[in-house]
Formats: sequence, structure tokens, C-alpha cells
Amino acid sequence: MATPPLVAACWRRPVPHTPVWFMRQAGRSLPEYRAARGSGDVLAAISDPALAAELTLQPVRRYGVDAAILFSDIVVPVHAIGFGVTVEPGRGPVVAEPFSSKADLGRLRPFIPEQDAPYVGEAAALVASELGPDVPLIGFAGAPFTVASYLVEGGPSRTFARVKSLMHADPAVWHALVERLADMAAASLASQVRAGASVVQLFDSWAGALSPGEYQRFALPATQRVFEAISPLGVPGILFGVGTGELLGLMAQAGAHAVGVDWRVPLDSARARLGPRHAVQGNLDPAICLAPWEVVAEEAREVLRRAGRATGHIFNLGHGVLPETDPGILSALVELVHAEGRAGVLPR
Ligand code: CP3
Repeated sequence: MATPPLVAACWRRPVPHTPVWFMRQAGRSLPEYRAARGSGDVLAAISDPALAAELTLQPVRRYGVDAAILFSDIVVPVHAIGFGVTVEPGRGPVVAEPFSSKADLGRLRPFIPEQDAPYVGEAAALVASELGPDVPLIGFAGAPFTVASYLVEGGPSRTFARVKSLMHADPAVWHALVERLADMAAASLASQVRAGASVVQLFDSWAGALSPGEYQRFALPATQRVFEAISPLGVPGILFGVGTGELLGLMAQAGAHAVGVDWRVPLDSARARLGPRHAVQGNLDPAICLAPWEVVAEEAREVLRRAGRATGHIFNLGHGVLPETDPGILSALVELVHAEGRAGVLPR
């Protein structure tokens, strides 16, 4: 059985075509998503395995992307152990009683996926059996820093003032917090792999808020802990963040096989900063997808040119699909990348 292109690209092996998938490919940009999802709470949709499996599969059917990503959320584990997290439409995760001191560590017990959130593994198993061996399922978790930012800020933040003040003012409590979140992420990823995921992605979406010194001291060690814990599983890992240009050299030390970057860093620079041992994922600006197709096509070609001919490029957007995106543009993008992608492509 041939290794799927996404998996091969993570390992920097030759591929029949450049693999492509889109962060947030399942979502409000798809009419079939809006129809199936209804208006309920996203956490309720996630906890219904049949619905979560259906929402996961929709973009694979429509776009012919090279991977499915499980319909779930980075706050599922902390929600499932009862930390008190909700997700507000249009806003994101909200925590009624934010983490503020050592005493709050008592609210973060270990996460036991099969008991606390059995629906995640059930949805993953449904998806994996539906997909078969040719299209991999990506399991995912939130990286410790990004999940901690929601717990400490109480919601989305612009300045990350509370979370930064906690890490600097009380490093011991901070490290205890992110270690617990690392163990939860690792447990979640391992259970998704047991259920059928064959690649995992760790979302450190907001890591770009940190200086290199802060990242090295306050985020990298817990991130390394996640990748170390799951390394015996033998599946490739992708580490992604937004605004991480100055952090890429450090992110290369996290233990991931591939690193995702946003549109602020051209992929040739990203490769230079990461070194030759990593695959790169990205990095078309999702806002470009709102432009006419000729513009999108030219920008996508520029991404492919920057990725170069060396092995190890996974085409993606630099962040999630915007809800107003025309699905037809994404279908055309998949076709273009499959036809014109060159990184590590086998001679025909
Ligand atoms: O195809 C997919 O990618 C869907 C699966 C998915 C969701 N969340 C479902 C969801 C994934 C991979 C995530 C990850 C996630 N969640 C991240 C990392 C990715 C990134 O964008 O950086 C983050 C930071 C979160 C936290 C979160 N959850 C946010 C910021 C939001 C958006 C709030 C909004 O409404 O704009 C959510 C809610 C959420 N999670 C939605 C979806 C499809 C949208 C709400 C809905 O459809 O009801």
C-alpha cells in the first residue's frame, strides 16, 4: 500500500503530487456544513460522533483534499474535564472563571480521553473507516501555550497581558499549568491515533504573541513534552502557529516533523530558518481566497515556487478558511496544487 502523499510529505519523502488540505476546511464556508450543523453549540456538534464524522468528511468529498481533519476543537479536553469552557459563536472559547493562581491547578485533573470525551475517538474511528487507507485523518490538539492563553485570559485576547504577566510573575505555577496541558494534549492525540488518525497537528495559533526569549522559556518546553510523549506512536507531527517568523528556529526544536507557517514568511525563508530536517506547511493568505480566481492562482503559484523542488511541502492556507470564502475557489486551488505542485514530486 502506497503511503498517502500527506504522510510522505511530512517525512520529506517523494510524492506523486503536492498534498493539500485547508485549516478550517469544515465550516461555515460550506452550504452543506450550515445545513447539517444547524444552530446548536459547536461543542454539542463535536460531541455527536455521527455529526462530527459527517462534518469531517464533507470537505474531503467536495474538494478532494489530501486529508481530513477531525471536527473537534482545541478546548475539548479542558471542557471535558469540567474547567468551565464554552465557545461563543463569532468569538471563540470563553472561560467563566479564568485560571489566575496556584489554587486553580486543582481544577486541571488528568484527561482520560476514553472516559472524559469518548465521542472524539468514536468520531475518529467512523471517519477513518469511511476514508480507508488512501486519505489520512489528521488528529489535533491545542498546544499548551495557546490553550493556556484562553484559560488565563478568559477568552480571546489582543494583548495576552494576563497570560504574559502570569508566566513572568509566577514561573513555577506557569510551568505546572503548561505541563498539565501538555499531558492532556498528548493523551488526546494518542487516543485519536489509536482511533485511526495517521498524522497529528498541534495548534499553537497564538505563539506569535511571544518574543523568542519568552517562547523558549515559557512555551517550547511544554511543546517538546507533547511531541516526546507521542513519538512512540510513529506518526508524523505538524506544529502550527500564526506570526511565528522570528520563532521558527526555536520551533524546529519542538520535535515536530513539519512546521506550518502563515503568509508573513515566504516558504523559502521558512525552510532556511527551520533547516533541512523539517517539512513546511502553508502558506497562502486566506484573505487572498476572496479575490478573483486569476489572483488566487498567481499567489498559489508563488507559494509553490517558494516551496521549491526539495521534498517536504504540504500546501495549505496560512490560517483558517474565512467563512465568506467561495468553495469553488478552494476546489480550483486543490486542482492547481495537484497539477502544478513540484516539491518532491516523482518524475511521471
Ligand atoms: O475543519 C476544521 O478545521 C474544523 C475543526 C476545528 C474547529 N476548531 C471547529 C470549530 C479545528 C481544527 C479547530 C481548532 C481551533 N479552535 C483553533 C486552532 C486553529 C486556529 O484557527 O488557529 C483555535 C484557536 C480554536 C478556538 C476556537 N474555537 C475559535 C477561535 C473559534 C472561532 C469562533 C468563531 O465563531 O469564529 C472556535 C469555534 C469553532 N471551532 C468553530 C468551528 C467550526 C466555529 C463555530 C461554529 O461553527 O459554530
